[in-house]
Amino acid sequence: MTARLTTRGLTLAYEERTVVEGLDLDVPDGRVTVIVGPNACGKSTTLRALGRLLKPREGSVLLDGESLATLPTKRIAQRIGLLPQTPVAPDSITVGDLVARGRQPHQHWWQQWSDEDERAVTDAMDRTDVSALADRAVDELSGGQRQRVWIAMALAQETGLLLLDEPTTYLDIAHQVEVLDLVRQLNHDQGRTVVVVLHDLNQAARYADHLVAMKSGEVVAEGAPAEVVTEELVRDVFGLECVVVPDPVTGSPLIVPGAPWSAA
Ligand SMILES: Nc1ncnc2c1ncn2[C@@H]1O[C@H](COP(=O)(O)OP(=O)(O)OP(=O)(O)O)[C@@H](O)[C@H]1O
Ligand SMILES: [Mg+2]
Repeated sequence: MTARLTTRGLTLAYEERTVVEGLDLDVPDGRVTVIVGPNACGKSTTLRALGRLLKPREGSVLLDGESLATLPTKRIAQRIGLLPQTPVAPDSITVGDLVARGRQPHQHWWQQWSDEDERAVTDAMDRTDVSALADRAVDELSGGQRQRVWIAMALAQETGLLLLDEPTTYLDIAHQVEVLDLVRQLNHDQGRTVVVVLHDLNQAARYADHLVAMKSGEVVAEGAPAEVVTEELVRDVFGLECVVVPDPVTGSPLIVPGAPWSAA
């Protein structure tokens, strides 16, 4: 396994609260890695450090062996795209303008907008099904429409590495499947390396080549979903009793929670 994006001895903290300590993580190249784990275990914190939105307290994030801390921001933005969990749009910006911002890392002072930029934006908007919204204000969209616009912006950046923090939040089930299928397509057709944080374990098991389970800032298991997802793991990581059966469509592990509470 080769990994262009790795962490070594990574410690992440907010003032006195240490969230991740001494993390060594390798993001396998050309694969879809899915991170799962309970609320507040440090998934978003880790993803933000991988995209250099958060500075390590100790240790480093390495891209092709070079510490992110030493690389120019623009060079990182040409290679790593990050969709945060709760992105904030500039007031009353239109969909088209927001998606176009994804092209900023590729622009130069002598050429603000190229045919290549136009093509990338059109393609990203088509793939995420937001072309018809181009002239609408982002802050007037539904939660799901807005989420797809953010995904379009990250796609328009056309980076080899794509980090997506809960990209399916707010999406109805059909759009969830569409977005995750899109992730797999981009990975297959363009060899993009993708890291996705997901809460739905069954979707994680379906879409991950490499699954990483986190608990309290540590990786407790990683590998192929069929090896990682077990009843013991779900009990240990989430404190949930469940039964794991083969997904009738894909054969991947399918988690069925224990019986719901009832008065009997
Ligand atoms: N900006 C911040 N300032 C202080 N503490 C923070 C900040 N962001 C996150 N934390 C804390 O760091 C810990 C890890 O948060 P993080 O957002 O990484 O969790 P997560 O695994 O992504 O959870 P979720 O599934 O709820 O998104 C939590 O205890 C959280 O309260
Ligand atoms: Mg999070």
